[in-house]
Formats: sequence, C-alpha cells, structure tokens
Amino acid sequence: MGEEVILEMKDIVKDFPGVRALDHVNFRVKKGTVLALCGENGAGKSTLVKVLSGVWPYPTYEGKIILDGEEEQFSNTREAEDAGIGIIHQELNLIPELTVAENIYLDRQPTNKFGTIAWEKMYADAKEVLQRLNMEIDPQTPLKTLTVGKQQMVEIAKALSHQTRIMVFDEPTSALTNTEVKELFRVIRELRASGVSIIYISHKMDEIKEIADEVTVLRDGASIGDVAAIADITLDQIISRMVGRKLEDMFPDRIEEMSRKKTLEVKNITVDDPKVSGKYLVKDVSFSAYTGEILGIAGLMGAGRTELVNAIFGVYGKKSIGELILNGEKITINSPKEAISRGIALVTEDRKELGLLLEQDLAFNISLPLLDDISKKGIVDQIEEHKIAEKYVEELNVKTPSLEVYINKLSGGNQQKVVIGKWLATKPKVLILDEPTRGIDVGAKVEVYRLMNKLVAQGVTVIMISSELPEILGMSDRILVMNEGLLAAELSKEEATGELIMEYATRHIKKGAEIN
Ligand SMILES: Nc1ncnc2c1ncn2[C@@H]1O[C@H](COP(=O)(O)OP(=O)(O)OP(=O)(O)O)[C@@H](O)[C@H]1O
Ligand SMILES: [Mg+2]
Repeated sequence: MGEEVILEMKDIVKDFPGVRALDHVNFRVKKGTVLALCGENGAGKSTLVKVLSGVWPYPTYEGKIILDGEEEQFSNTREAEDAGIGIIHQELNLIPELTVAENIYLDRQPTNKFGTIAWEKMYADAKEVLQRLNMEIDPQTPLKTLTVGKQQMVEIAKALSHQTRIMVFDEPTSALTNTEVKELFRVIRELRASGVSIIYISHKMDEIKEIADEVTVLRDGASIGDVAAIADITLDQIISRMVGRKLEDMFPDRIEEMSRKKTLEVKNITVDDPKVSGKYLVKDVSFSAYTGEILGIAGLMGAGRTELVNAIFGVYGKKSIGELILNGEKITINSPKEAISRGIALVTEDRKELGLLLEQDLAFNISLPLLDDISKKGIVDQIEEHKIAEKYVEELNVKTPSLEVYINKLSGGNQQKVVIGKWLATKPKVLILDEPTRGIDVGAKVEVYRLMNKLVAQGVTVIMISSELPEILGMSDRILVMNEGLLAAELSKEEATGELIMEYATRHIKKGAEIN
C-alpha cells in the first residue's frame, strides 16, 4: 500500500437550494490504495465525488482539489477525465442502443486522416481495454444485450481507456450478482496493484471490510474523524461515526407475538420466458403467506424471485398463470391496478424504472396510488396530498428540504424511502418488498426493519425478497429459496442458516427433477 498522497480535497463546500450538501469537507487518498467512503443516505458522498469528477464544475463549489501536488479546477467531466479521474456513477451512464466500443469511446472516437471514424482502430483499442478486464466480448456487441454486471465492466473499461489515476466507484455492486462482485473485486485489486487509487462508496459493510485499505466517513456533509486504516477500526466504530450514535440492534425484535392466519395462497405460478419459447422464468411455484410473520424469499439474482412477485401483482396480465386465494377467496389479478384494489402492494427493486416519477415532487409521488381518493372532479386536494406525504416523510425519516422537492434531487437512499412510503400510504393487506433496503444506509435499514415489524403487528402480511443473507436470516420467520425459476426449499427460521440457503440457491437443478 502506498504512502504517497495523490489527491487532496480541502475545505470543500457545495450548496444546493435549501441544502448544504458539503460543509468544509477535507479528504485525501493515497496512491495505490482503496479508500472506502462511508456515510448515511444524503451524507454527501455522491456530491463529493461529483465535485472531484467535474460534474459540479469549478466554481460551483468552494475549496481546493489538489491532484499530485497541483491545484486543479475542472470546468467539465472531460477535463477531469483527461487529468486521470475515472468515475462509475451510482446510476449507469451508458447508451444501451450503441455498441460496446461506441460506448467506451463516446465523444472521442479515433479518426483517420480523412476525419472519419477509424472503426477498425476503435474496435481493436476497445478489445485491448476489455482484455485488461478479462472480458472476452466482441466490441461490436450492442450494449443492451449484456447483463448489468457486464455493462458495468464496460463503464470501467471506458474509464480505463483514459490514463486513469483515480477510479471512483459509487455503489457499484447494488445490481451485481455474487460472481460479478467477485470479478469486480479482482479488477479493483489489479488496478490497485498497478498504482491506481480507488475511492469506493458502499453501504455494504462486509464489502468494505473485504476490499478497502482505509475508510473515511461523512455525516451531514462533514468529515467525521480522520481517515482510518481498515485494520484499526471496527465495523461498529464505522457505523457509529456514520449515524452519530451506537446502533444497539441491527435486527429489532418483533413488538409482540401475533396470531398466524393464512392470508395469501399462491398455487402453481408459472411465467414463461418471453424471449425463449419453451423456457420459463418461474415454474409451478406454490406457497402460503400468513399474518403475523415475515416471509423471506432468498435466491441468486435471476432466480425468478422478482418475476414471481410481479406475476402475483398482475404485471404480466393474462400471460402468467396460476391461482391466487386471498383470505379464502379465489381471485384473479390481471393488472397492478386490480392488485392494489385487492390490498396487495409491491415495492419494486428498481426505483428509477418502476417506482418513482423522478420529474415530480415528493408529495405527489407518495400520494400517487391514492390519487383517486384525494381528488375531487379531477383536481387533487393538495392539502390532503401534503398531509399524507408529511406523515410518511416523518415516519420514514426521509431527508428532504421540503415536500415540493423533485424526487431526482434526493439522494438514492432517500428515494427508496419515498417508494416505501408511497405503498404504505395505500394501507395494504399484503405488502411485498423487493430488495427493500438496497442502497440504503444502515441507520435507514434499521428504520425499515422496525417499520416491517410494526406492519406485522398491525396485521399486514409482509413478503420480502432480499439478496442479503443477514437480512433474510435476521428478519424472516419463514424462508423460501428460489433457484432457476423453481421453489427449491422452504425453511423455518430455526433451521435456516446462510450455508443451507446458499446450498439450495446454487445447487444445480435438473429439469423436472424432484426437489425438496
Ligand atoms: N442535484 C441536486 N440538487 C439538489 N440537491 C441535491 C442534488 N444532489 C444532491 N442533493 C442533496 O445533497 C445532499 C447530499 O446528497 P448525496 O447524493 O451526495 O448523498 P449520498 O451520500 O450520495 O447519499 P446515498 O447514500 O443515498 O446515495 C442530499 O441532501 C441531497 O438531497
Ligand atoms: Mg449517493
């Protein structure tokens, strides 16, 4: 690990209307070192790296950026890239319609002496950077045909195609499979070995312990404590720097024991693969959910968990088959609207695509599913809208300057809280949460867990999909494990262990073979 400081950010101040996002932050990174940048949602992590990478250009911030001893004032992202700053943003920044090579060399395609694009050179260069990442893909592949993990590798390749000295990863793993995370970590270690410095932003503490050499914490836009070597600081210490107090209990206890009553029975749900005929995404899945418990659904990414709950929620209309029995009554649900009217709510995993209207304000987003209830003759009762929004902003501790703020101005984690608030406002009987704590900080996670317990105590049936084993084990009373579209196991809280879940989640299933 290097000792030489390559980057210093001094006294950085960045204001947005109504919010001081960075309040005299001091920050430094050593050469050839992985520095983890931690902090709760809205702490200012993304803003800090956006200042560094020219997204917020000089002089829209105050303070100094000193790179390798020289003061830098970037007017745009291009200048930052040219100075060797690469960044993988929280939301991927690629163009799905273009090829891999075009994405890598966007805006800087090599030209030949006639001034036209030198395609052959571009493909050859792209192939070379991809090989540095062990990626054997054809540079002419359209980006949109790749998995999210591979697309992210293309982003990394794009950053590496410059002479990158500092590589920033802003929550890179939230959409990656376990194998893809391993691959990413291998790449990060190689970059480090070649002298590149890495700034790694993540809410996943186990990742930070694994990959970081040093850690620094932001809280409410200010640096808390000095940079610490990862070996010298415990996870508890990092967390208490982040939240400003000690977290007693990551997984809070249920308030009281509730009686169990079967609410939702799901029989033989099958969803065909729309892309490949004869294949399925979900096959013959049956289970029951009860009041008084949280039902966890575990499995690897791509195991069909999201498709299963989407089918229940009516997303595929008549294309998914199976039977639903709600409180003893056989029902059919052919659209999300019908699901909502039956008291079923689904908090989706992808807030950008399905969960939120980013160009609308917070109050509107929360009250959206209730629009009919709070409108008279097509006009929304704004007072009512604000009342509802205020209740959930408070309950979920959403960090926002006002109820009128546009959703895209909130930090990622706070957006996630708004999605949850929106569905809670419908007062559902069955609440399905798909990766409810993805991208949210530890403090907010505990708030979401408390809320889930509270809902269980109020008689709501809660179903939670999660890829985080500690969360599945910590919160569920019963656990379903999915594997390649099939239900591979149903485990009680008592018998479930991380190893057992992983075994069922990864075991190779022979088609049509008896499982369980
Ligand atoms: N474009 C913007 N306009 C207005 N306010 C913003 C903008 N971007 C960020 N903010 C505000 O600045 C603060 C810091 O946000 P930032 O996105 O840096 O947080 P973060 O630490 O990255 O959080 P998360 O872990 O949720 O991603 C928040 O209060 C946020 O609402
Ligand atoms: Mg962020």
